[in-house]
Amino acid sequence: MSEPEDFAARLDRFATRFATALDAQLTAEALVGPGTPPERLVAAMRHGALNGGKRLRPFLTVEAAGLFGVTETEAMPAALAVEFIHCYSLIHDDLPAMDDDDLRRGQPTVHRAYDEATAILAGDALLTHAFGLLAKKACHSDPAIRAALVAELVAGSGGGGMAGGQMRDLEGEKGGFTTNDIAEMQQMKTGALIRSAVRLGALLGGASLDQLKALTTFGEEAGHAFQLADDILDLTASSEAMGKATGKDHQRQKPTLVSRIGLDAARRHLGDTVHHALSALMMFGPEADTLRQTARYFAEREN
Ligand code: IPE
Ligand code: IPE
Ligand code: MG
Ligand code: MG
Ligand code: MG
Repeated sequence: MSEPEDFAARLDRFATRFATALDAQLTAEALVGPGTPPERLVAAMRHGALNGGKRLRPFLTVEAAGLFGVTETEAMPAALAVEFIHCYSLIHDDLPAMDDDDLRRGQPTVHRAYDEATAILAGDALLTHAFGLLAKKACHSDPAIRAALVAELVAGSGGGGMAGGQMRDLEGEKGGFTTNDIAEMQQMKTGALIRSAVRLGALLGGASLDQLKALTTFGEEAGHAFQLADDILDLTASSEAMGKATGKDHQRQKPTLVSRIGLDAARRHLGDTVHHALSALMMFGPEADTLRQTARYFAEREN
C-alpha cells in the first residue's frame, strides 16, 4: 500500500473510533447541570458535531500526544475538547450574521435544520462542554496539567485566537486589509486552534520546552497551510466534494491570500508552508511520520 493510502486508512479508522467517543459525550446524561438538557438543544449539538467532519484537529492532538507514549484513550478527552470547539466555531461561522451558509458537511447547517437561536445555543453548549472535559480527572491525573490544557484551549479559541480571528474575518469583508492583515486573520481564525490541537497533545505528553517549541512551530505552519488550502479549495473545488458551498469567499469579498496573490502563487506558498511544517519536526524520528503526513494532507486534500 502506498504511503498516502496508509495515512487515509489511519485517519479513517481514527474518525470511526472518535465518532463513538463523541456520541457518548453528546447525551443528556453527559451534559451535566442542575437541570435536564432540553432535547432540542442536544439534538442540535449532535447535528453540528456528529455527522461527517474530517476530525483533523483531534487527530493532531492524539498523534502529538502519541509521540510521548500517551495512548489514544488517554488523549481522548483533550481531543474531544478541541473538536467541540471546532464544531461550535463552524455552527456560528455558518450563521446568517457571519458567513450565512446553508450547507455544512453535506447537510443543512444547524440554523437551517433548527433555527438561529438554537444554533447559537448549541454552539454555546459545545464550547462550554469542551472546557468541562478538560477540567475532569479523566483528562489527566495532575490538576496542574489540566489547568495548562484549559489555558491552552483558551489561547487557541478566545479573543486572541479563533474568536478574535473570526472578528477580523468580518472586518476584512469591509476592505482595506493588507497582506499582513490577511495572514494575521488566518493565523487567528484557523491557525490558533490547530496550533492548540498540537500543543494539547504535547502538554499531555509532558514535552520538554524544546519539543513544545518545535511542535508549536509545526502547528502554526500546518494551520497556515490548512486555511490556505481551504481558500484555494473555495475557488477550485465543487460544493459536492466539499460538503459546503464554494465560491463564497469571492461572493462575500473576503480578503484571502488567493484573492491577493492569485492561485499559482498561493499554491507555491502552500508548498513552502508545508515544507516549513516538516522542517519544524526535525528533532523527531519516524514516530512523527504521521504528523508529517498530516501536514502534507492539509495541502493535498480534496475536501
Ligand atoms: C473547516 O474546517 C473550517 C476551517 C477552519 C477552514 P475543516 O475542513 O476541518 O472542517 P470539517 O471538520 O472537516 O468539517
Ligand atoms: C472558518 O473559516 C474558520 C472558523 C470556523 C473558525 P471559513 O469561513 O473559511 O470556513 P468554511 O469555509 O466556512 O468552512
Ligand atoms: Mg468564515
Ligand atoms: Mg465560512
Ligand atoms: Mg472557507
